[in-house]
Amino acid sequence: IVLILDFGSQYTHLITRRIRALNVFSLCINGTSSLKSIADLNPLAIILSGGPHSVHAIDAPCFPSGFMEYVESNKLPVLGICYGLQLIVQKTGGEVRVGEKQEYGRMEIEVEKACGLFGNKKVGDRQSVWMSHGDEAVKLPEGFEVVARSKQGSVAAVENREKRLYGLQYHPEVTHSPEGMETLRYFLFDICGVTAGWKMEDVLEEELKIIKETVGPDDHVICGLSGGVDSTVAATLVHKAIGDRLHCAFVDNGLLRFKERARVMETFEKDLHLPVTCIDATEQFLSKLKGVTEPEKKRKIIGNEFICIFDAFAHDLEKKLQRKPLYLVQGTLYPDVIESCPPPGSGRTHSHTIKSHHNVGGLPKDMKLKLIEPLKLLFKDEVRELGRIMGVPVSFLKRHPFPGPGLAVRVPGDVTEGNRLDILRKVYEYLFLKYTQCNNIQLFNVFFCRLWCPYQADDIFIQAIKDAGIYDSIWQAFAVFMPVLTVGVQGDQRTHSYAIALRAVTSHDGMTADWYYFDHKFLADLSTRICNEVQGVNRVLLDITSKPPATIEWE
Ligand code: XMP
Repeated sequence: IVLILDFGSQYTHLITRRIRALNVFSLCINGTSSLKSIADLNPLAIILSGGPHSVHAIDAPCFPSGFMEYVESNKLPVLGICYGLQLIVQKTGGEVRVGEKQEYGRMEIEVEKACGLFGNKKVGDRQSVWMSHGDEAVKLPEGFEVVARSKQGSVAAVENREKRLYGLQYHPEVTHSPEGMETLRYFLFDICGVTAGWKMEDVLEEELKIIKETVGPDDHVICGLSGGVDSTVAATLVHKAIGDRLHCAFVDNGLLRFKERARVMETFEKDLHLPVTCIDATEQFLSKLKGVTEPEKKRKIIGNEFICIFDAFAHDLEKKLQRKPLYLVQGTLYPDVIESCPPPGSGRTHSHTIKSHHNVGGLPKDMKLKLIEPLKLLFKDEVRELGRIMGVPVSFLKRHPFPGPGLAVRVPGDVTEGNRLDILRKVYEYLFLKYTQCNNIQLFNVFFCRLWCPYQADDIFIQAIKDAGIYDSIWQAFAVFMPVLTVGVQGDQRTHSYAIALRAVTSHDGMTADWYYFDHKFLADLSTRICNEVQGVNRVLLDITSKPPATIEWE
């Protein structure tokens, strides 16, 4: 493997992904990990990431002592990127100082000397690269040479060919460094002599083998399916390995999207042949949510209900099988487990709870199930690829994310306000069981509106996005019910109806997001359709807030 030591750069995961995209397996661990944990991974090459610190800061993270000796004695090639370069320079006898002119953003560099990082052939070549640094290397350690400089004259690339140590002051991993991928390729294949062989088919074989070895021939495994990509791919994989000793539960909490239950159950059963129990818990969830307006409280209630239902599912299964299920499958992804090195005071310490996120399958501690997390070394796009080769329909794999608490976080305030359970039950029944046979929507009233409007407006919105061919360019799109009555005029009649807000964002990981810039004509048509087709709505708004300051969901 190619090992990446993370020193807190926002681009570290990107390095891992770029290398995997070259069909070389790479892992990322905290840059301050022990020498033993580094050596145990037996890397073929090591990359030191960038980071927000100055190497002179008291709390500046550093590789463990003995690291340079370890790489030298094992003749391991090392590439330092930005802060990584400065660490190598500072720790091997050179000097790093605050640069006279700091370099942020797009810069031009010139290759001054033939070097493996540029294929040994590009002397005089100019490249546009992405810089983001305040410090710079002003004196190189013995044995190092400058191979490229920025337009401003500062060091952009260095090498110690004999010791196989390399450094780039810029970020080759970002798309704003168009030739960066080529440089990474030169480093991996020419300098390190790594061979490209890592592919998803091998991951599939390897994971199937591990699951078969882990789960005994009479053991049973359970899995909470959320209807999302990760749990579905994880369950499909485990099902391939152990067949129907996997038992999945899909909980309908009454807060799912329009026709969602029917759609996902069809995929689970018809396309993937997964053994799934669909648990209808609408009443249970909605009765607990009655009168609750505080977003965190709503989330906690929903999370706890999932746990209770799943707990009961496991107990029922135990009675039926006459033995306890021993394992639980979870669709945990690499970004969830990756060790990172958050810069002090950066707010990336995961300590500040913005929202309590949860998924189906958060479990009570006394269940004592052992975890099977077959996706925990994969990124989202890799999980999609794995799903594709296992036959999960591509349209399913490309679906936008949907939050565990469902529409509850898209109906600000009390989801059930002004409502009685039996009415909601009717809404539910109507929406899911009768809608397909009923063309004329007469059942609508204010009580129904809260759940009905977002269901229907959301469906129209998503269909329009699909029809316009822009679904895949959007990270997530949905409608939000606005609990505000405003005045309108429809068919010469005064109306006093609700508003719907449309939210569509682009993002890479959901951590930050920008709103999607729709074509005006598209928006105008959509607004007309929603007001015409969704009873009780006379106003359509567009959410034009990025994250931060807003979050993607409204609660
Ligand atoms: P926010 O609203 O925090 O959302 O900007 C970021 C991403 O996470 C999704 N999300 C959730 N996913 N359980 C989940 O599985 C949750 O409780 C949850 N809350 C938000 C959200 O849809 C977006 O993609």
